[in-house]
Amino acid sequence: MGALLDDLATPFLYVDLDRMNRNIEAMATAARELGVRLRPHAKTHKIPEIARRQMAAGATGVTLAKVSEAEVFADAGIDDLFIAYQIVSPAQLERLTRLSRRARLRCAVDSRAGAERLSTAATDAGIELQVMLEIDLGIGRTGVRTGVDAFQLAQRVADLPGLKLIGIYGFRGFRAFADGAEGREAWGRAEGEALVSAAADLRAIGLPIAEVSAGSTPTALPAASVRGVTEIRPGQYLFGCANVVAQGAMRADDVALFARATVISRPAEDRAVVDAGSKTLSTDGSWEPGCGFGYLASDPSTRVASLWEEHGVLHLEETARGLQVGDRVSIVPNHVCTAVNLHDRIAVVRDDRIEATWMVAARGRLE
Ligand SMILES: Cc1ncc(COP(=O)(O)O)c(C=O)c1O
Repeated sequence: MGALLDDLATPFLYVDLDRMNRNIEAMATAARELGVRLRPHAKTHKIPEIARRQMAAGATGVTLAKVSEAEVFADAGIDDLFIAYQIVSPAQLERLTRLSRRARLRCAVDSRAGAERLSTAATDAGIELQVMLEIDLGIGRTGVRTGVDAFQLAQRVADLPGLKLIGIYGFRGFRAFADGAEGREAWGRAEGEALVSAAADLRAIGLPIAEVSAGSTPTALPAASVRGVTEIRPGQYLFGCANVVAQGAMRADDVALFARATVISRPAEDRAVVDAGSKTLSTDGSWEPGCGFGYLASDPSTRVASLWEEHGVLHLEETARGLQVGDRVSIVPNHVCTAVNLHDRIAVVRDDRIEATWMVAARGRLE
């Protein structure tokens, strides 16, 4: 028999195993039914054991942001990897080409200079790298604009030695909470439509765009419902977090990742302080304005109103005012990816018992 959840010293993160397994299964089933491949973004969990479960449920591979993260998954035998991030510096390009000898790898490009660097690295190493062109979906981050810019870049990638253009991808998430579920679905469909149309334009000039990869947790399924989208890359769907619940992309009852904390101070009627601060929850803010840094799982109206490194200050609604010093609580962080990245390990819990401990093997992999 494993230890009980409350035998462990706080603060720590734990995953509700049954809920996580259900979330993994539900997304895999939905992707299958919509006829798209699922390539979850593994930066959410950074844990090879979880990637194995995602693949056992039907994922074709995983998405990562960094070469060093990808190396961890390759070491663990997960060898179909899309690094959806621009790799441009010589040291990382060198690691990338080395990695491509032991894993099926896809790389991201959104600039001519980036493509040329990738091409040089590939030809120097005597290999061919598969390339996904990132399309700008308007969030003010990376990606090439559709139209002339995308035509010229795609043509350049296709002409460069050592590179094989295989598809396009885009990311834009969803932050318009007021619009509700319909707004999110329309937003997700528009994402899929934008990518399908960009792919059609590139095919029209003779470029071989086979893969059209879309989606984040809030947009993956509506994007997948657009004919022509071939792959989705949701990350947070297996855990959920306060922001994903606020997006309407998951129900509070499906959230599977929590910070366990102890009330260490009870300075006012409406205030309790727990031992989980920014070192535990991360400082990522709420995408929905004014919602603090997470909420109490047992009473979602009680928010983590402010954070210090080791202190989380709960603004207690009436329903939570019975909390006393020494009580243990579960908190849903705002953003699960950044919270997990702060922890060496997470406890794996079923019915309040700790069944295992998983090392967050790719945490802090910045390069
Ligand atoms: C390129 C890319 N794809 C997919 C995702 C997954 O999105 P989400 O975390 O909302 O599931 C992310 C997340 O940041 C991303 O940057």
